[in-house]
This record gives sequence, C-alpha cells and structure tokens, in this order.
Amino acid sequence: MTDLFSKFDPVIQQREDLLAAGYTDPFNLVMEKVESPTVAICNGKRTILLGTYNYMGMTFDPDVVSAGKKALDEFGSGTTGSRVLNGTYVGHKAVEEALKDFYAMDHAMVFSTGYQANLGVISTIAGKEDYIVLDIDSHASIYDGCALGNAQIVPFRHNDIEALEKRLKRIPEGAGKLVVLEGVYSMLGDIAPLKEMVAVSKANGAMVLVDEAHSMGFIGDHGRGVAEAQGVIDDVDFIIGTFSKSVGTVGGFCVSNHPKFEILRLVCRPYVFTASLPPSVVATAATSIRKLMDSADKRAHLWENSKRLHAGLRQLGFQLGTNEPQSAIIAVIMPDLEKGAAMWEALLNEGLYVNLARPPATPAGMTLLRCSLCALHTEDQVGEVLGMFAAAGRATGCIS
Ligand SMILES: Cc1ncc(COP(=O)(O)O)c(C=O)c1O
Repeated sequence: MTDLFSKFDPVIQQREDLLAAGYTDPFNLVMEKVESPTVAICNGKRTILLGTYNYMGMTFDPDVVSAGKKALDEFGSGTTGSRVLNGTYVGHKAVEEALKDFYAMDHAMVFSTGYQANLGVISTIAGKEDYIVLDIDSHASIYDGCALGNAQIVPFRHNDIEALEKRLKRIPEGAGKLVVLEGVYSMLGDIAPLKEMVAVSKANGAMVLVDEAHSMGFIGDHGRGVAEAQGVIDDVDFIIGTFSKSVGTVGGFCVSNHPKFEILRLVCRPYVFTASLPPSVVATAATSIRKLMDSADKRAHLWENSKRLHAGLRQLGFQLGTNEPQSAIIAVIMPDLEKGAAMWEALLNEGLYVNLARPPATPAGMTLLRCSLCALHTEDQVGEVLGMFAAAGRATGCIS
C-alpha cells in the first residue's frame, strides 16, 4: 500500500525541525479569552491583537452582538438547509439588501464563506472554453475557483499592467475572458493599480472580477474598496467580499449589476450544495454592514494607525512589504522561517500577536510577520506595539 500521506513528509519534517529547535508552534495558538477586538488573553497573558482581520473592530459592537442574540432566540441556531431549499430566512434577504445598499449595486448573493464565493462565482462563470487572466499572487480561493471550473488559466506578474495587457491580447478572438484581481493583496498589504487594469481589461473585451476582501469597510469614501477609491467601481462586473474581516463575522458574497446575475442562485454549486449561514450570523452581518456605511471617522483613525505603525517600524530598521502604507496590513519581511519564528515568539512573550506567514501563502518564498491594524487600536496601543517590536527585534538580532 502506498501511504497517501507520504506527500506531506517535507512539511512534517519542517514542522518537527522548528519544534525541535525549541520554538513554540506558531500555528497552534489558543485565544483563552477575547476581551475586545484589540486585546485577548493568550498563555494567561494580556496580548495585543495585531494579526486579526478585524479592521473595523465590529466583533464587540453592542448593536451587532444584540442583533445576533435576538436572531438566535427568534430563529434558532441554524437553518439546516441550502439557500435554494429551506435555508433562506428573512435575515438572508436582509443581509443581501444591506449589501446592495452598501455597494449601490443591483444584486447581492451571500455564500457561507468568502472562499466559497470565489470558488462558486469563478468556477460557474468561467468554464472549460473560457480564459481566466489572473495576478500570480492571487488568493488560494481564486486559484481553487479556476481549477473547479476547468477554465484556461493565464497568470501574469503581480500588479504588472503591461503583462496583463500582453496576456489578454494573446487570447483567441471571441473567447470568453475573465480578469480576476484583488483590491488589496493580503500578504504584503499592497494595492492593485485597478484604474489602469480595469481599463486594459475592458479595452480587450474581458469581464472583471475584483476581490475586495481586505478593503471593504476601510478603503474608498464609502468603504466599498480599492475600485471605489480609484474611481472604477462602475466598470467592475463582480465584486467578491467576505464577512470574516471588516464585517466581523463569517460569510462571503458577490455583488454585481449584471442583468442575468440572479441565475447564479440555481447554477452555482458552492451556493446550492451547502447549508446557508445561521440566522445569528446573517443578523450580525446585516447590522455591521449598515453601521460600516457610516464609519468615516473610524476609517480616518485606521489610516492614522497604519501610517504611524509603518513609519515607526521603518524607523526601527525593519524591512517592510511596501514603501508607504497602502492598506491596514503592514508586512515585516523576515530573513528566513527560523528568524521569523523566533521573532514571532519573542513578540508573543512581549504580549503581541501578529501573523507568521510563509510559503506557499507568501510571494517569492518570503517569511513575513503580518501586522493588521484595527480602527479600535488606540494611539497608545500602537506606541506599545512599536516598543515590543523594538525589544523583540533586538533580542532576536533582527535589528541592531
Ligand atoms: C483575498 C481573499 N479572498 C477571499 C478570502 C476568503 O475569505 P473567508 O475567510 O470568508 O473564507 C480571503 C481570506 O483570507 C482572502 O484573503
């Protein structure tokens, strides 16, 4: 018998080596208590959270929490069914209405996760005969959506407008073309040049899908994302998003003005063949989305936090993923996985949680300490964070 698990041996070895060297497993942290969007108790210690996607700090919002409790009482703990059978409650309709209002778009379809939204929409609209042109640094859910639909995949160099244009021009005349982009790329926290890329895509007869998972709520005057900020949202055919980041719960969605969009509810397998979100989740999401429409002050404070952390880390001598802060994600580049794990652990001991990211999730084989800021981090907390980076950086030899 061939052990089907033997293919995982290199990963098992790498993990064992790391643990044998005495490092804490960076992928097995337990939050013993969560006190707020910015503070938790880990290993019995107060820990500042700088590695969540809680950009707008909605998880403990009193209105959001009470909407969830009310729905739990009135509708029970789950729907036990698909959206197309018994799994559509008034709450699912209400959250889709909230999304249509938030994005000012005609259609909104809610999935059980953002992963499934990409999987479902991409695989359903781009099939075997079609071409998907995508940034090489695209999220795993985008690649998995491409694979599920069997489309021809044409990757291009990250954020390279000319490379996108070249690829588009090589596709046979008359073929179906979908360009898939992200507003914010979550590993380095950089944004896409959507203005130019959407124009090039349209000029070459392609439909455009933009995943705005890491920009919703924060970027753009109304928090609609990078496409809004760069003035091209009306030219984007599909926006994919998630409830697991700024919205503060779980779920995914696609919004669109395409006149035939609603047919997806019948033909999109990751929408049809899975249970719908629990009523408490859609109630919290709808409340959160409506509050995000009116959150300009929080957006401004989050930008301040992002700028302050970026400047402070740079001053300390860390190498960062972007020259200027472009989003709520600031990536600190580590020389290798071992140094990254040592720094991650030293920060945790100081009382700070960040994300350790490594290949294959990261581009160019990089090991990153990814910091994601929250609109509820105070100026003092950002100062505390910088003090912790200074101490951990010196203790591990990452900075002098
Ligand atoms: C760009 C992007 N798209 C989609 C997703 C999936 O979102 P969800 O957590 O809702 O499955 C993520 C999650 O990390 C993401 O970063």
